[in-house]
Amino acid sequence: MIATRCAPAALAVLAAIAVVTLAFADTLRASTSADRSNLDRGRYLVKIGGCNDCHTTGYTRAGGQVDEKEWLTGHAVGFRGPWGTTYPPNLRLYVRSMNEDQWVARAKRGESRPPMPWFSLRAMTEGDLRAMYRYIRALGAAGEPAPAYVPPTAEPQTPFILLAPQPAKAGG
Ligand code: HEC
Repeated sequence: MIATRCAPAALAVLAAIAVVTLAFADTLRASTSADRSNLDRGRYLVKIGGCNDCHTTGYTRAGGQVDEKEWLTGHAVGFRGPWGTTYPPNLRLYVRSMNEDQWVARAKRGESRPPMPWFSLRAMTEGDLRAMYRYIRALGAAGEPAPAYVPPTAEPQTPFILLAPQPAKAGG
């Protein structure tokens, strides 16, 4: 008698568990596909944003044909100009030094030395910046940190690209 009275209650509990389980599975599916489209968006933004041009060794010379595994690992050749010598940091390691909100805040307020187009980063929407952060995080840690900034008064200890107008050759 007790058993029969309990049965509907037990069934209701089982049904509730089933509903919760299905709802959970649904959320998981949705968040997985949302994650995937976020990563695709991040990859797209990195690609069209030109970030690889400087932050990936050899990218422009190879016409962009550099394995994604190598992307954004930084560049040890400096850009030398009146600002000193700057090195595109290894962004794969850089994103590990901050969380997503810090990345957004830095991009929105930060100002870097040339030739980093920090104003392009600042003009991005928050959604785009978050997608970019997640994509770079998902690439995983790789490579070495780029050399440290060298002030204008010091000689860089690495090869560098001189970013300063040179006089035209007379009679050329
Ligand atoms: C023309 C070369 C160039 C391009 C293109 C470029 N960067 Fe940079 N980036 C640099 C250099 C050089 C630095 C180091 C600047 C410094 O030392 O002040 C830098 C620094 C940074 C930093 C560190 C900023 C800080 O103050 O901590 C971030 C983040 C960054 N770049 C992200 C990007 C992203 C994302 C893109 C693509 C949208 C991009 N960069 C495109 C050259 C470039």
